[in-house]
Amino acid sequence: MSPTPKEPRIVIQGGQPLKGSIYVGGSKNATLALMAGAVLASQGQTQLIRAPRISDIANMAIILRGVGIRVAFSDDQQNIHIDATNLISFEPDDQLVTKMRGSLQLLGPILARMRKVRLAPPGGCNIGARAYDLHIKGLIALGATIDENQGYIFAEAPAGGLHGAQVYLDKPSVGATMNILMAASLARGTTIIENAAQEPDVEDLGNLIVAMGGKVTGHGTGLITVEGVTELHGVNYQVSPDRIEGGTLAMAAAITRGDLFLEGANASHMRPILMKLAEMGIVVEEAPNGVRIKHPGKQLKATDVTAMPHPGFPTDLQQPIVALLSLAEGTAMVTDTVYEGRFRYLAELLKMGAKARWEGRTAVITGVDGLSGADVEASDLRAGAAMVLAGLAAQGTTRVFSVHHIDRGYERLTQKLAAVGASIWREDELGNKVEVV
Ligand code: EPZ
Repeated sequence: MSPTPKEPRIVIQGGQPLKGSIYVGGSKNATLALMAGAVLASQGQTQLIRAPRISDIANMAIILRGVGIRVAFSDDQQNIHIDATNLISFEPDDQLVTKMRGSLQLLGPILARMRKVRLAPPGGCNIGARAYDLHIKGLIALGATIDENQGYIFAEAPAGGLHGAQVYLDKPSVGATMNILMAASLARGTTIIENAAQEPDVEDLGNLIVAMGGKVTGHGTGLITVEGVTELHGVNYQVSPDRIEGGTLAMAAAITRGDLFLEGANASHMRPILMKLAEMGIVVEEAPNGVRIKHPGKQLKATDVTAMPHPGFPTDLQQPIVALLSLAEGTAMVTDTVYEGRFRYLAELLKMGAKARWEGRTAVITGVDGLSGADVEASDLRAGAAMVLAGLAAQGTTRVFSVHHIDRGYERLTQKLAAVGASIWREDELGNKVEVV
């Protein structure tokens, strides 16, 4: 798919080593879940502190306002105030819901509060089937009746409300774990979620619900126990730093032979990423308030990567690390056990001189001495990040199109990279340099 010149784009003159300190913002995926979790509060206001300023968050705010919930951003946009006391509709806006996968997380809380919910088919990156059968299975176990029609989901709780249940997840689905956790927090009785997702975003959500007056244990492990309560109240909650943004910025330091301090990064959440980068020869130094990533000064070594549920290597960094592997010495086997369609971006990377073959869930990357700048497409959020990383290292000019994908999940990416030495800027569809606030 060749990008049409009449689109905004990110432009990069490659070859500049990144040096200095770079701020890691709040987790996109945790913030979306926490915004959904705030819907559970029938009294008081929730404040989410250190949230990222990205389009998915803005979109979720509009969805919540559409069902009667008051949402306001602090002046620096870093804090979100959510007052869900006046939740009056069980039907979030169809158009907005279909823009992102994160809106699926509204099933559980709205069903728990309103005893019914109707949701349009959720959107999200085109990286596989992205089924939601486990969400449905869990809500049915809690007593809901579900009607699916042309992708629309209509769920209704019994007159007495949802009840506790024992739920086994065939796959440790992040979203399904979150929806069941939220619905169970206001159900009658005890719910046990087995084979639950262990992502830090799930742990964040469990911590929020406990702070709201809920009774949750085991969140962040594969076995979560929830004692339903009758009411939850608003709280102040600080969002964890984004381990995926942190991993992306770490790879930007590595691919440009640079030396970056990731300010605010949470090393324990990033453990699988940092271990993999160290295997390639990158110098990783953990500090109380962040992580330093330093290129060793000699070519990085290829290493195999298997993307899997946490605490495995995160699938959201599969595309960025493949950009890094394309310049490492040797051949790497990369497998994505989470998504069956997350290698389509490789066609764009080949345009820059990368050597890769892929079949289904596996790709073989053969390192090359250098990449060349080219016009490439951001086919989804993390593919866009991979294109930016490749452009930072490539000789010559790279233009990355469809930047709206990148803006869904990375706050001020071009400004952050330019501030540590990258020659990178944004242009509008006419090719005029624009600054993004
Ligand atoms: C969340 O998606 C993230 N999105 C994704 O990040 C991330 O890749 C994913 O978790 C895995 O870590 C948000 O949090 C908004 P899943 P989610 O349910 O909840 C299959 C990014 O780049 N599955 O764990 O949708 C599904 O098809 C985005 O930030 C079922 O089969 O992830 C997929 O192959 C991309 N049935 C796999 O499991 C279900 O009922 C992972 O899905 C649910 C999922």
